[in-house]
Amino acid sequence: MNPFLLMSFLYLALAGLLALDASLTSFTLLPWFNGLRWLRVHLIALGAFTTAAFGMLPLLLALRNKQPRPPTNWTIWLTLNAGILILLSGIPLVNQALIFAGGTLIFAAVLLLMRQLSRLATTTVNFEAGSSLKFYLMGLAYLLLGILVGTGLWLGWTVTLGIAVPIEVHIHANNWGFMSLVFAGLIFDLYPQWSGHKLAKPKAITLIFWMMSLGALGLVLGPWTKSNLFSVPGLLLHLSATIWLLVLMIKPLIANKTWSLGLLHLISAYIWILAPVLIAPLIILGVPGFPGAGIEQNAPQALIYGWVLQFSYAVLPFLFRKAFLVEPARLGGNWFSLLAVHLGGVFLWASIFIAPYQAGLHGLAYGLWTLSFVPVSVELWKIVSLGLESLDAAPSLGSTIKSASD
Ligand code: HEM
Repeated sequence: MNPFLLMSFLYLALAGLLALDASLTSFTLLPWFNGLRWLRVHLIALGAFTTAAFGMLPLLLALRNKQPRPPTNWTIWLTLNAGILILLSGIPLVNQALIFAGGTLIFAAVLLLMRQLSRLATTTVNFEAGSSLKFYLMGLAYLLLGILVGTGLWLGWTVTLGIAVPIEVHIHANNWGFMSLVFAGLIFDLYPQWSGHKLAKPKAITLIFWMMSLGALGLVLGPWTKSNLFSVPGLLLHLSATIWLLVLMIKPLIANKTWSLGLLHLISAYIWILAPVLIAPLIILGVPGFPGAGIEQNAPQALIYGWVLQFSYAVLPFLFRKAFLVEPARLGGNWFSLLAVHLGGVFLWASIFIAPYQAGLHGLAYGLWTLSFVPVSVELWKIVSLGLESLDAAPSLGSTIKSASD
């Protein structure tokens, strides 16, 4: 039983509820309860996805290297979830002590996970060097930076660190760094199981790794120094690496007509990290009449719901099936979740450009995102119940010891 995945499911369910609240609030049907935007974003990114990743990366690397399943690391589970729960109360209250405590605990959990993964590599004979481990470790390094800036945002640290646009540094470190690199690592690790096809040669994997890592660095240093000298090359490097990765995934699927709804979810989710990129030049050039402020305020939502959440819709059911030994381990999602999550993104962006109908379009966007949670939440709950059932059916430790001693 993987306690990380149970917490991931809880955070996902709460995120679904908060999307509903955002929709009802936009339609002024729930004016007295205005859920925090911070909660909506972080229950998905820091809660549902990050907790699942922390619980599964050691297992995936062990399975890939034909090692026994590593035991649950309860120290990491406790520091990570204690940190998240403290932040969930500290941020809405803007309580500096709680924000510091929560951020520090999560920071410690990331360091512990990096140590566990590195140890797996150094203690396993013939550990598959060219694998996804470097993506996971570099991604986690960017998460450390994202946590430092996020925790320091309301503690005045960003001034001491001389950061020009701290919120952008935070968002870029966590999305272009952490999420992009861990997603790419999962794709290199699991695409053959998802599609039945090999993905790429080690040389291409290493090139994509360095282009994505250096691209993310440029996209962090840009808003840190308020200089496009870093942002533009960073963006071009990261974008080329991301598109290269997508082409490597799509080509075998077209050639062999082996698309699945899960792969469609996973690949089309990248539309929502590419959309802001296509718009960025218009903001940088300051095109008159262009709702730059509206985009900066709302684009992070479409990024997290359209890209991170949708990627999770496909990958979480696969990881849950692997962890709870529910066969066959396949990607999640269906036509309903696919259409609802994409339409949500379209309406969110439309709400930025069609100001007179902003509240209605915003409410529709969140209404659709709320609906998109349903099929995947039901799928995950079915896997969890099946997994727990088989656990209950398994001979209990007591009877095993008893039968062993008889
Ligand atoms: C310890 C971990 C973290 C802390 C303390 C933290 C803290 C913060 C804070 C204080 C804000 C500003 C909220 C505001 O101005 O309203 C923020 C915004 C944001 N954070 Fe984090 N964060 C953390 C982890 C993450 C992670 C892992 C992601 C992953 C993608 C993330 C993505 C974002 C995004 C997209 C926003 C912008 C939200 C918006 O404007 O709509 N954060 N975070």
